[in-house]
Amino acid sequence: MTIDELYEIGQNFRRSLESFSAEIHVCGSGGCFSSGGMQIREALEQACAARNLASDVRIISTGCMGLCGAGPLVRMHPSNTLYVKVTPADADRIVEQHLVGNTPVADLAHPTDTPFFTKQTPIALKNMGHIDPESIDDYIGHGGYEALAKAITYYTQDGVILEVRSSGLRGRGGAGYPTGLKWSIVRKVKSNQKYVVCNADEGDPGAFMDRAMLEGNPHAILEGMAIAGYAVGATQGYIYVRGEYPLAIERLKKAIKQAERTQMLGNRIFDSEFNFRIDLRIGAGAFVCGEETALMASIEGRRGQPRPRPPYPSQSGLWGMPTLLNNVETYANVPAIILNGGKWFAGIGTEKSKGTKVFALAGRIKNTGLIEVPMGISLREIIFDIGGGIPDGGEFKAAQTGGPSGGCIPAQHLDIPVDYESLAQVGSIMGSGGLIVMDKSSCMVKLAQYFMEFCMDESCGKCIPCRVGTVQLHKVLERMTQGRASMEDLGILEELCDMVKDTSLCGLGQTAPNPVVSTLHFFRKEYEDHIHAHVCDAGECTALAAAPAPEPPSAPAEKTTAAKTKPGRRSNGRD
Ligand SMILES: Cc1cc2nc3c(=O)[nH]c(=O)nc-3n(C[C@H](O)[C@H](O)[C@H](O)COP(=O)(O)O)c2cc1C
Ligand code: SF4
Ligand code: FES
Repeated sequence: MTIDELYEIGQNFRRSLESFSAEIHVCGSGGCFSSGGMQIREALEQACAARNLASDVRIISTGCMGLCGAGPLVRMHPSNTLYVKVTPADADRIVEQHLVGNTPVADLAHPTDTPFFTKQTPIALKNMGHIDPESIDDYIGHGGYEALAKAITYYTQDGVILEVRSSGLRGRGGAGYPTGLKWSIVRKVKSNQKYVVCNADEGDPGAFMDRAMLEGNPHAILEGMAIAGYAVGATQGYIYVRGEYPLAIERLKKAIKQAERTQMLGNRIFDSEFNFRIDLRIGAGAFVCGEETALMASIEGRRGQPRPRPPYPSQSGLWGMPTLLNNVETYANVPAIILNGGKWFAGIGTEKSKGTKVFALAGRIKNTGLIEVPMGISLREIIFDIGGGIPDGGEFKAAQTGGPSGGCIPAQHLDIPVDYESLAQVGSIMGSGGLIVMDKSSCMVKLAQYFMEFCMDESCGKCIPCRVGTVQLHKVLERMTQGRASMEDLGILEELCDMVKDTSLCGLGQTAPNPVVSTLHFFRKEYEDHIHAHVCDAGECTALAAAPAPEPPSAPAEKTTAAKTKPGRRSNGRD
């Protein structure tokens, strides 16, 4: 395969589209897939066939289109009309009204000029929702594998690394380590065998950014990994993906086969000396296996437990060989950086956090789904402009970022720029992109307990501070949410948090106290109310009393009576 042959594949694909008068893109990713995406596609195919339009209309299943909460989604081309909450029963009128009658189906149409779309900057998600993830030709037709061809044909290995360094890209798996620096360290180590690993373990509860990218644009990850392999001098790559992602696994398997057949992977890629293969390794869904040393142990067939670092994977990784390990989203950014240049990427975002970040919006927010925003955008813009704010006229209480390792950001910090440094300053982290929005109905103590239970269950048990400390922390939090805690417990909680954070072996234990520390910092009164007054303002802790309803202005005598019969007040078993 030469670079010219690659262009020819792309041209042929684009030419083949000219025979269609219209295209229908049906979201075939996680949420839409499980709520009937395939049936909708079949119904649309039948509706087209019934009107002799089968060869005129191209119907494809795509990756996530972003607005998951309004799914299943269907997008019509060339008009770019977006239909939401589509059912198979809508297929006939979509085809009849939209394609035959040339009139959009008004009650299904959703505007595409809203901030949800206009405030996003898709780079890692660029082709998502626009291409058929099972077709390498579609990917190539949209400029796919041109970055790999360019890297191998026109760049030296150091040249590729220089480009990635100048982009300012930082690892999207959580810690934000500079990607170019990591690549140059692996490149410099002398070894006959090096590996490239993609961390697709994605263990944060509720997070689905990586899954969506693997399902919706798998070739971009393969291309990013191959570029990395060329840059650092590796010949073998592994994608470590959790077994709970069957669709992602299926699409990756297909993509790898197609890439091998088209010689994007294999020997002498683009007629060079560069050989690179990628294999899948399926994880069993343990959160700790997302930690890089545990992940590598798991790939090697050993128990997935972390080990002390150094040595870092870049020095001694898989089977003791230098190993480059990056997150899915990190690799997904690489082709665009090589095609457009590091400077272009560095022009987006803030001084220290370049480019964009993908977030999965969840919780009490109108537009739940997948978004990609420039670094530095304010949290307020994400939640209220892109996310549409809190449903049912609710009031914003806090945003949780970073999952079990992260923290809660209250309303007074809504205007902070979303970048690595600013989030850390308010006691949270960027994490891998989970963003859960909470309103007044969420209890912060319960939330801390939920994440602690998660860490306790997921602790691998190798070191005592984490194995025992998370259990003890969970017990204290449980006492609080059940109205059995004393003020002494608050001190114990803080002491335990410090101990677990400072003495655990790996990031799981070191960051497990974060949700407690952050909620204690911003919502201490809520903890005190649970302990002193046995009241849970949010009404989530059912063993406690709910928040007293605001009292109506009235005479003092009446007030006393009203206070005794507050509506919604529940017994905590101690009154
Ligand atoms: C408990 C734990 C779980 C982790 N899970 C993930 C994960 O699911 N995906 C990921 O990319 N990184 C995860 N990480 C971070 C990885 O160890 C590693 O830093 C990251 O994959 C490096 O890639 P990056 O530089 O591209 O961010 C986890 C870390 C810890 C401590
Ligand atoms: S901190 Fe927790 S997860 Fe990490 S090695 Fe220790 S016990 Fe295992
Ligand atoms: S899964 Fe369909 S829009 Fe996200």
